[in-house]
Amino acid sequence: MKHNNIEFDTYFKNYPDANGYFGKYGGAYIPDDLKKAMQEITEAYFTICKSAKFINELRRIRKEFQGRPTPISHLERLSNKIGNGVQLYVKREDLNHTGAHKLNHCMGEALLAKYMGKKKVIAETGAGQHGVALATAAAYFGLECDIYMGSVDIKKQAPNVARMKILGANVVEVTHGLATLKEAVDAAFEAYTREYKDAIYCIGSVVGPHPFPMMVRDFQSVVGIEAREQFIEMTGELPDAVVACVGGGSNSMGMFSGFLNYPVDIYGVEPLGRGTALGDHAASLTYGEEGIMHGFNSIMLKDENGDPAPVYSVASGLDYPSSGPEHAFLHDLGRVKYDVINDDETIDAFFELSRLEGIIPAIESSHAVAYGIKLAKKMGKGSILICLSGRGDKDMDYIIEKYGIR
Ligand SMILES: Cc1ncc(COP(=O)(O)O)c(C=O)c1O
Repeated sequence: MKHNNIEFDTYFKNYPDANGYFGKYGGAYIPDDLKKAMQEITEAYFTICKSAKFINELRRIRKEFQGRPTPISHLERLSNKIGNGVQLYVKREDLNHTGAHKLNHCMGEALLAKYMGKKKVIAETGAGQHGVALATAAAYFGLECDIYMGSVDIKKQAPNVARMKILGANVVEVTHGLATLKEAVDAAFEAYTREYKDAIYCIGSVVGPHPFPMMVRDFQSVVGIEAREQFIEMTGELPDAVVACVGGGSNSMGMFSGFLNYPVDIYGVEPLGRGTALGDHAASLTYGEEGIMHGFNSIMLKDENGDPAPVYSVASGLDYPSSGPEHAFLHDLGRVKYDVINDDETIDAFFELSRLEGIIPAIESSHAVAYGIKLAKKMGKGSILICLSGRGDKDMDYIIEKYGIR
């Protein structure tokens, strides 16, 4: 399939290129020492991760430990409530072990760390899902694990902090700046610069310098490949539209990977938070401009000095001032349409899915559900497959305290 002169039949062979670029986005803007470390990871990825031994081991882990494949559920009561014939479905990454899609790339990254002879894994976390997933992978493979987390998120996502500690990880509190996801990435990168000989940085999304955006996408593509096959088996056809929320962009890139080369409309949903003013949202692809941050060139939200702008979202996992370079590329190409959902619409969808379907979604995933509902009302017919990236257990205390039981 061709879109805007890009041949999607061969897309995954051509993007990223050898230097990690998706068009003008991506690359590796990092100090020389770290360049060597990234080169080592890139070479290991292309040799180790493409070997039959690695692929078979990861396949076995996904089946026997993670519980894959995760199912697709038909949202019958929600579809009936919308009432215009559009059918909604969710890909259940909430049923992946640890409760979100993050374990898909963490098991891959930690398995690679083991094959490379590293002793430790380092990462940042926002909502705590990536931290929990990596702590789980570290426990599984017997690796040390340092997780950097902003103090605001530590308070907001207390159950996940407890889980990381129970799993044996060291949670390092980050107190500078807004003390949320961006600062946690800053701190984790600094630590990696000091420790790269013995450790591997297991980044939490399709962001960072090459090879991370490619590596995380490839490990997450299991979501989209499974989903396409399952949807066709279930309904006899492709969905008309696919929807996923976009923070850094890993669950969405995983989901979209399965559909880019098929005649399916694809939607990425960004957090509009409290509104369109800078500082009130984290919709980087919708409102941002080209810029370099955390070692990669992408589209980002900038303040008046050109630095990463302060961002906000009700979802800790979405409040990041940029998104992966591949999203920026797909945005400019127009192959994926990026749109926004605000906090209020998100919380409505959180309760709607819980009450009508018996599925409590993560606040991040609730953005995608809210958009799916909106889109269904507009479409009038057809089917929509939503990536339910995670479950809402981690958000329970926060929702009850801030919004009460509706
Ligand atoms: C459940 C869930 N969904 C989505 C995200 C956003 O990350 P990404 O855009 O990389 O999928 C997070 C991040 O923590 C998450 O926990």
